Amino acid sequence: MCGQKTEAKKETKETKAEPQYIRIPKGCVNVIVDTTKISYVDPKGQITIIRGYRIDDLGKHASFEEAAYLVLFGRLPCEDELKEFSKKLNSERWLPVKVIDALKQIPPFAHPMFYGSYGLLLLGMYDPDEGDLSIDKLYDRAIRIIAKLPLLFINGWHLSRYGRLIEPDRSLNHAKDVLRMIRGGNMPTDTEARAFESSLVLYMDHGFNASTFTTRVIASTLSDMYSAIAGAIGALKGPLHGGANQKAIEMLLEIGSPENVRWYVEEKLKRHEKIMGFGHRVYKLHDPRTDVLREWLEKLAETSGEAKKFLDMINELEKTMWELKRIPSNIDLYTGALYYLLKIPKEFYTPIFAIGRVVGWTAHYIEQVSNNKIIRPKEDYDGPRGLTYKPLEERCKR
Ligand code: CMC
Repeated sequence: MCGQKTEAKKETKETKAEPQYIRIPKGCVNVIVDTTKISYVDPKGQITIIRGYRIDDLGKHASFEEAAYLVLFGRLPCEDELKEFSKKLNSERWLPVKVIDALKQIPPFAHPMFYGSYGLLLLGMYDPDEGDLSIDKLYDRAIRIIAKLPLLFINGWHLSRYGRLIEPDRSLNHAKDVLRMIRGGNMPTDTEARAFESSLVLYMDHGFNASTFTTRVIASTLSDMYSAIAGAIGALKGPLHGGANQKAIEMLLEIGSPENVRWYVEEKLKRHEKIMGFGHRVYKLHDPRTDVLREWLEKLAETSGEAKKFLDMINELEKTMWELKRIPSNIDLYTGALYYLLKIPKEFYTPIFAIGRVVGWTAHYIEQVSNNKIIRPKEDYDGPRGLTYKPLEERCKR
């Protein structure tokens, strides 16, 4: 009886030690890893949803503040809630002197994405509550990060390059002031500000993309929000993710005119190179965010020959890529062109993606820590086995 019991116990332990592993495809292609209430990316590109609303509906109509409230708190705000939220966001649009001093030390040739992650880690160091995961503190921290991240990018850029501090103007809304500061104080028109704001809303959240997933992995260790967002900025910087909008404008400028498109694409494809601003892991037919941005480009094209030329190039690129590869354009092709028309330095395009997406990152951080399980997959080891350690003098004998 006793022996039998020991046998049974041993069996349970062994079974526990050797679970049935599930192998998922490389790159997590077509894998669902968890549930979220924040957003849904529709593979057909027709009904991509943020908190129940279509992303194109929000991109067309919502202000940055309204959409940020929705992403964070799960519903559109009432008038007094919006006022209160906007006030809070505005009041956080400043940087501590010690962070400004640190930004003065960074090299002017560095990519501005570094200023964001570096600056966030500094802000984390000065936050005595950084490890406090109570819900009110989490929301306060999220609003602080959303408000301050643009200033880190902008002042990292202006201080390191021109020794100039750009002061916020808290009488303006978030999007207009951010665009004004990026342009070194040059006030945008209402149309420019609204087009820019629309792009921030369209960038705000988008399922379990690489940078959001990075946020969730870091959050799942119960690390602090600053570290999680700094990690997400690192993931976004890559040209396969957020870095694509800068690459897209470089490509459009290189192509130069619609007549060069076909030749350019054919040459690139012959060399097995990617066309930036095309392709997506989920959208294989259409990226609905491009519809809203197309409307903005069309509006700008009414008065700008340059906007008209970009639109013609985009049309030709889309036609050619569909014909040759059956691959649709994505948001970064359009924001690449839009930000150029808004007279924004190209190194800023990916930071702008982060200035929008940070809202989603903070919401996903909160969702993850509120119902947490550490994200820790298993490896499939494919390296050597059975080697034994040899002292240095016995190794590498020739
Ligand atoms: N240009 C040329 N060929 C492409 C492109 C492209 N932009 N995108 C995909 N392909 C080809 C790819 O070479 C592959 O062909 P084959 O089967 O013959 O080897 C096939 O299409 C499948 O592509 P994939 O790279 O396996 O697809 P993925 O889901 O792993 O990658 C992607 C998605 C976005 C990384 C990829 O489409 C890409 O590198 N695009 C260019 C960069 C870009 O615009 N990124 C922004 C994405 S949208 C904003 C965001 O969320 O970051």
